[in-house]
Amino acid sequence: PLVYLNGEFLPLEQARVSVLDRGFLFGDGVYEVIPVYGGQPLRLEEHLTRLDGSLRGIRMTSPLSRAEWAEVVGRLIDGPDDQSVYLQVTRGAGPARDHAIPAGVTPTVFAMGSPIAPVPLAGVRAITLDDIRWRWCNIKAITLLPNVLLRQEAADKGCAEAVLVRDGRVTEGTASNVFAVIEGVIVTPPKGPELLPGITRDLVLELVQAEGLPARERAIPLDEFAGAEEIWITSSTREVLPVVELDGRPVGRGSPGRVWERVSALYQDFKRRLK
Ligand code: PDD
Repeated sequence: PLVYLNGEFLPLEQARVSVLDRGFLFGDGVYEVIPVYGGQPLRLEEHLTRLDGSLRGIRMTSPLSRAEWAEVVGRLIDGPDDQSVYLQVTRGAGPARDHAIPAGVTPTVFAMGSPIAPVPLAGVRAITLDDIRWRWCNIKAITLLPNVLLRQEAADKGCAEAVLVRDGRVTEGTASNVFAVIEGVIVTPPKGPELLPGITRDLVLELVQAEGLPARERAIPLDEFAGAEEIWITSSTREVLPVVELDGRPVGRGSPGRVWERVSALYQDFKRRLK
């Protein structure tokens, strides 16, 4: 399968970027991950709107129009199986390594498709860790060193995700948003600079509200989170995934909960209707 780089579709091995690219030197860029089910991208418009927001957040504008992005995504879709399309825009290569943004650089635009691994239906384990990231987590920046190190800390403990905690409140996972069921109500932290406005998160909220299930966006103190009946993480590549063990203790009965079963069915149904 081909990848997209700066207006061309070419084999991955032939895709080359300058070592002076500010994405490489500074992590100066943003990205998107769009899930594709049955050959149809999920919520493409919302992903492109968020990309515009991320670009604005780093003083850039989109180098491609909506129609051009849609064309790139369409051409990277490979067959009917679940997959994702990755989009990345970096500021491009400056004349030399300089932190300040040089005038007149041309952005580097890269995109590729990847298969999505099946989601483990038995649920996953997670740990909580201090959210050491910066304060602009609403920007989907490629600068992911904290996320990488925190996720590895989780992996070292046999866990699939680290749930991050800032000022005693849960923010999100290293690459996912979080939900909890507390006293029968589905809760997720409100949008703001401390977390990425997840497309899956918004979809899950919409689906549960349409179903009449009680749901609220509110801050979740760690102690409440740790005692939740259910915990789920959501992302474009992991759908709605139950967390069955948190910090070595079972969540609820230690198996995927009843509310998750309903919400997961709603999500699967939404996927099927895309096709
Ligand atoms: N990550 N929070 C963070 C920090 C993320 O990196 C992601 C997604 C999410 C979930 O957002 P969405 O539902 O729009 O995928 C929340 C992608 C999948 C990644 O980095 O691979």
